[in-house]
Parts: sequence; structure tokens; C-alpha cells
Amino acid sequence: NVDVSGLVDAQSGLIDRAIFTDRTLYEQELARVFATSWLFLGHVAQLEKPGDFFTTYMGEDPVIVTKDKDGRIRAYLNSCRHRGARVLRADYGKTRNFTCTYHGWSWDLGGELISVPNENGYANADFDRDDWGLIEVAQLDVVYDLIFATWNPEAPDLDEQLGNMKYYMEAFLGRDPAGTTIVGGITKWVLKGNWKLAAEQFGTDWYHVNMSHASALMVMSPTGKGPKESIANTPGRQYSDERGNGTGFPTHPKSRFDAQPVHEYYDYDELRERLGAARVEGPLTTGHATVFPNFSYLPVNGSIRVWHPKGVDEMEIWSWTVLDKSMPENVREAQRLYNLRTFGPSGIFEQDDGENWSEVQSISHGWRTNTIPLNYQMGLGSERHDGVYPGETSELYSDAAGRKFYSRWAELMNTPAWHEREQRPPGDAAATSAPAPV
Ligand code: FES
Repeated sequence: NVDVSGLVDAQSGLIDRAIFTDRTLYEQELARVFATSWLFLGHVAQLEKPGDFFTTYMGEDPVIVTKDKDGRIRAYLNSCRHRGARVLRADYGKTRNFTCTYHGWSWDLGGELISVPNENGYANADFDRDDWGLIEVAQLDVVYDLIFATWNPEAPDLDEQLGNMKYYMEAFLGRDPAGTTIVGGITKWVLKGNWKLAAEQFGTDWYHVNMSHASALMVMSPTGKGPKESIANTPGRQYSDERGNGTGFPTHPKSRFDAQPVHEYYDYDELRERLGAARVEGPLTTGHATVFPNFSYLPVNGSIRVWHPKGVDEMEIWSWTVLDKSMPENVREAQRLYNLRTFGPSGIFEQDDGENWSEVQSISHGWRTNTIPLNYQMGLGSERHDGVYPGETSELYSDAAGRKFYSRWAELMNTPAWHEREQRPPGDAAATSAPAPV
């Protein structure tokens, strides 16, 4: 394992480009960052009844997420215990059990092995079906109707991982006491670029908005005069914490850039009463956020997304449109279209961002390029308790959350993970025991 202390200097705000290009570091990242962190799996609306399932990834590991016969949400490694084939190949569906299409082993919704073709062939082996259940995540939890899980049995619970971040998430995902739902399925696309470029930007980078999105802002500006009159130089705050979470938001009520029917739908006085004026004038506006390591969201667009790592140079972006459950049909449709137009794969803002990340990645393998440190010094030392927002915040235009993101990343990269400290044989209790019911 590589000591990354020399690659991330959060005190000075300098980052070595190798963290985006080095293949050894990428493997270490899978084993120490993705294997230990809480990762986003999907929305509860994707699982209505027992037997419903969808498939996704935790890092590069394929997983099945399902509801068992008791209605509990469960998540299993989507890899057969026999020869390792993918058990389920569909993106989503409904089933009574999971049958591997290679040789036909089958598991029930609770992950127990229930059928082995020609099982008498194992008569002389030390073979017990109980030892060959699907590998289950160590912990699974739901917050704001979002499903998260971790392989790490020692991870602090999700509530602790989120900490003060929940205050900010609630401005988007807790607006409606009835909860949230999703519309329009999941949009998935592949992009050249290391996953951290996207996760970091959503956590910390308001700075790029005026330049990268200048033409998009002109199109969307009510006066057509663009960013100078609308969103540029807007006051705001950026929250960051030691666990790598970050969010930024303008604090000017006119900084909302939302679909008109959505804007008109909200009773802002009622929201101020319930969520507090600071939240309504702040994180409920045109903000951005990342929950460490690779879950991000945009409140005004109703966009949640996960940046799946696909090798050091590539990511797969999965994006959902999240709605308040109480929204009427016309408002839901307005939100769906608005999200697609702005942050769908061909959205006018998404295009700008994707172009930047791919461009950065495409030149990062050059030898000379890779010797020049990157600058994350904006707002250095400006973090403080501002007396309004929980936790530490800095100015909106700041790299504070980026520095914390990479500090957390480096901390995990330099710490032996739970699976390294105690080697467990395949199929043992720690690897297969079920998490607490959800
Ligand atoms: Fe799945 Fe053989 S690989 S049953």
C-alpha cells in the first residue's frame, strides 16, 4: 500500500495529480475508501414489494438490492458463490429467488442457498448450503428515503457519518413531511474522468459556475443578460466536515434558478416556519453537495447522482430526479423536464461539467503535467462557526470542502481497512451476517 501523505497537503491546499491517474492508488481506493464508507444504493421507491430488486455497484462491486419476504431491504454482492458469475443481469425487476444462469444455483430473497442442481455430486465434499449464502453488506440504512450501505462492520452508523450534513440535506430531501419519490427512471452514462473530479466539484466548487456555465446562465437568465445580473458574485456559504461531506449554497433569495411551476408550488412562509429562514434562504436555493465519497445532489434541479468508479480514467454517472411526494402531476413533470434540460446527460449544465472533467483527465497522464501540484487554496483558513449554519462554513467561493474531501480520502487511504486488520475466510459470519432490519 502507498502512503499518500505526500500527495495531499490539505494544510497548504496542494494536491498531487497522481491521485487521479495512478492505477495502484485506484486499487487501494477500492479497498480502503469504497470498502469502508457508506455508499448510496438507490431510492426506496425502486422497491415497492417483496421480491422487487434492482442492481447497482458499491465501488466496482456489483450488488443486488431487494426487499425480502418480510419487507426488509437487503443488499448482496451480485456474484455467484460457485464460479463467480453475475447472479442477476437485469437492471431491475421482480423475482421469487435469485438463480445464477451459469450452473443454476439459487438463493431465496434472504440470501440463503436453496437449490443446487445435481447436488449429490458434492456428497463426498465438506459441502453445506448454509456456508454458501450470498454475501450481504455489513450495514444498511435509509435516510430521507435514500438507501445507503457499507461493507464495513466497524463503520459508525449512517447518522454519525452524516452529522451536521443532515441539516443541509433536509432543506432538499426533508421539505415534504410526506417524504420523497422519484420520477423518470435512472439515467446512466459513461464519462472519461476520474470519479473524484466530479464528487469534489459537487462538494466544493461554486467557483466554476460563472465561467464554465456562462452561456447556459445567459440562456436561463430572465433578462437574457446572463450571470453578471443573476448569479455571479452572489453571497453564500460553504459547509465542510471532517468526514469529507460538503455543500455550498447562495444565501440570496433571488439566487433560485428553478422551474417556474416548482417555484410557484412552494409556500415559502410555511417552509420558513418549519425549516427556519436560514435554511430556506440558503441550502434550499441553487446549491450543490457531496456526501463522501461519491453521492451528490442539486436541490433546485431535484437531481441526485452517484459517481461509480470504472477504472482510474472513467466513471459511470447514474442520475435520478427526486420529487416531494406531495407534488401534483404538473409540478412533477416540470421538475423532471427541468432536471433533464439542465443536468441530464445532454443537459446544458451537465455538458459543461463533463467536458471539464474529461479534459482534465485526458492530459493528466503526461509526465510533466503530472509533476505540477493542483491548487486548492481558495478560502484557506476562512472556515469558522458562523453562528447561523451548523458546523464549519466558509465563503461560498472556497475550496474548503475540497480540502476536507481529500483529507478524509487520504486518512482512509493511509489506514488499514477492517478487512486488512482481520483476515476472514469466505463465507464466515462477519461476511454474511445480516445488518439490522430497515
Ligand atoms: Fe453460478 Fe456456477 S457460476 S452456478
